[in-house]
Amino acid sequence: MKGIILAGGAGSRLYPLTLVASKQLQPVYDKPMVYYPLTTLIEGGVREFCLISTPHDLPRYRQLLGDGSRLGLSIEYREQAKPEGIAQAFLIADSFIGKDAVTLILGDNVFYGGDVFQKAFVDFRDGATIFGYHVHDPERYGVVAFDAEGRAVSIEEKPRQPKSSYAVPGLYLYDNEVVAISKALKPSARGELEITDVNLEYLRRGQLRVLRLSRGFAWLDAGTSTSLHEASAYVQTIERRTGVKIGCPEEAAFRRGFITASQLESLITTLPKCEYRAYLEEVVAEDRRLQTR
Ligand code: G1P
Repeated sequence: MKGIILAGGAGSRLYPLTLVASKQLQPVYDKPMVYYPLTTLIEGGVREFCLISTPHDLPRYRQLLGDGSRLGLSIEYREQAKPEGIAQAFLIADSFIGKDAVTLILGDNVFYGGDVFQKAFVDFRDGATIFGYHVHDPERYGVVAFDAEGRAVSIEEKPRQPKSSYAVPGLYLYDNEVVAISKALKPSARGELEITDVNLEYLRRGQLRVLRLSRGFAWLDAGTSTSLHEASAYVQTIERRTGVKIGCPEEAAFRRGFITASQLESLITTLPKCEYRAYLEEVVAEDRRLQTR
């Protein structure tokens, strides 16, 4: 399955932070925000990526992630000239997707906990798989409502009166039909090709699966200065307690077998002496200890 990371938008809700760096490059505790969605897709087994951002910001992402080869990945870069909707990503990435299935993740979505995503990637065959997450402010999101049997019956984008408390997070898995569906979309009242309209089409076709994320699973919003700070505090709390990093693409690529221990070791030698390097050194050392037992 191919992977798209959408890191567009002006980030105006994070002004003045975003005057000099794009939203998805801002730090969430100890790493750039985009590391988190990248790691989520690596954990899902995705190796071929297309990162989409504004013409202005794209060079910075290239600088940060390169061609992906040091992580055993391939990463292409494409421009979204104007913020004309999430579903536009499938038109921009049409030739990248080719005949494959594709997953799209929003560059500002930070997830943590459980293995529901990994399972969703393994189980994916066709149609669409999206998720539902209980929030206190569903009106800010796409909202999915369920019938008594737990089947999705409606999805609405930022409804004034939400029919449920389940928001749709920014991780979507689609079969190749998503390209044709996106090509047929009309812009919404806000002038965007809406991802919710893509999901509605799959729902209409009876091909939409909505998996509810359980309690204890964290979906963090990093879109305002306050929520960005809270996301950092959350990541710091978990990392300090467990000694395990959230959103570390080098570790994820290693654990998925995309790079070997010796490749990770040589990658580490290119890093400056810092906490991040010390952490990766410990990942390799722990692995070596387990191997020699
Ligand atoms: C977008 C989607 C919305 C989804 C949200 C998740 O909202 O349109 O359906 O719930 O991402 O982060 P937007 O970023 O346009 O506010």
